[in-house]
Amino acid sequence: MEQMKKTKFFLDTASLDEILYWKKFDLVDGVTTNPKLLSDQNCEPLKRVKEICKNVTGPVSAQITETDEKNMIEQGIMLSKISKNIVVKIPLIENGVSVAKTLAKKKIRLNITLGFDPSQVLFFRNIDISYFSFIVGRVEDFGVSNRENISKLKQIININKMKCELLCASIRNTEQLIVSIISGSEIITVPPKTWKSILNNKFSLDGQKDFLNSWIDLKKNKKGYTL
Ligand code: G3P
Repeated sequence: MEQMKKTKFFLDTASLDEILYWKKFDLVDGVTTNPKLLSDQNCEPLKRVKEICKNVTGPVSAQITETDEKNMIEQGIMLSKISKNIVVKIPLIENGVSVAKTLAKKKIRLNITLGFDPSQVLFFRNIDISYFSFIVGRVEDFGVSNRENISKLKQIININKMKCELLCASIRNTEQLIVSIISGSEIITVPPKTWKSILNNKFSLDGQKDFLNSWIDLKKNKKGYTL
């Protein structure tokens, strides 16, 4: 069996507070932003991306928001100059393929996002992209599962000798996180909300409450008893 590498975890957020908080848990090997995440922050987007780059040593993805090919290329070049650790995120639309080709030739690090079908990666098989982002959670909102497709995508990448890393995104719960890890995704970008719900597992919290209540009873009834 192929020896798998340790999974890297990016934080899917544009919040600096969240980045600083989750860094304490060693869960910020990089950061992914997108236009929605930046918009939710109600901040000046370019300034925020620059701040994120300063606070994170790993790769920081910033997404192209233009849709016309020429403008996309210009915006990609502009974004690539923000910082050494910036990665230009390109949406998987028709123009995205030619834009990726142009920016890759300029040695700009690229993250192709909004991958929903494993076959879509084939459009980039001869382009030097760093990451292919595969959306796991969002499709489940529409009653469709992409879980089994993760390992199929991984195989397609391997068979075609692509150098890009598979990055599973849109992780809404522990099941999606686990399947992404065991299917061989090199990187998983996780929103802070998902980490929070995993950390604060109901049974862990209830168990702790139960143990502590018993402990308080012991201290009440047997004075002087301690650990
Ligand atoms: O950036 C792509 C992905 O992280 C989007 O996540 O939760 O908006 O589907 P979500």
